[in-house]
Amino acid sequence: MSESFTKGMARNIYYGGSVFFLLIFLALTFHTTKEMPQRDHRENLTESVARGKALWEDNNCIGCHTLLGEGAYFAPELGNVYYRRGGEEGFKQFFSGWLKSQPLNIPGRRQMPNFHLNDQEIDDLAEFLKWTSEMNVNNWPPNIEG
Ligand code: HEC
Repeated sequence: MSESFTKGMARNIYYGGSVFFLLIFLALTFHTTKEMPQRDHRENLTESVARGKALWEDNNCIGCHTLLGEGAYFAPELGNVYYRRGGEEGFKQFFSGWLKSQPLNIPGRRQMPNFHLNDQEIDDLAEFLKWTSEMNVNNWPPNIEG
């Protein structure tokens, strides 16, 4: 039996497999780059969203929170916090109140620091979280509580 598996066959499997998976890789890459513009609604990227993203990074929010599943598991997921906490009508009010009342100092509850952001910065961060929540990510996270 073992003699029937020749070097030539091994080579063909090697090259054939490589080409096969390279084609799948190229097809998926093409599909992703084609889908992205519709899913991330980049036409809605404003200056405010960009400033909010910079604030998100400068203050290391991801050091405690996850955003669409990426980040640290210390604090709640924020990819859908915009919908969870009021959406169009209520989110900005909730968000501003939340940031300004930190730390809550409730015994036994995890703490979030106060970042001492001004109203413009808070609005920019809210715009960033709104923009993030409106991306088409196949309804991730699946649960409204994150
Ligand atoms: C040191 C860790 C830490 C960092 C850094 C942090 N947070 Fe938090 N955050 C928390 C914790 C813990 C909670 C939950 C607190 C609670 O429920 O009392 C929370 C809650 C929140 C909530 C409310 C979530 C909800 O479901 O109601 C929002 C909004 C929020 N954080 C935004 C931010 C933003 C924006 C930043 C960056 C500027 C940030 N956090 C940085 C720890 C952190």
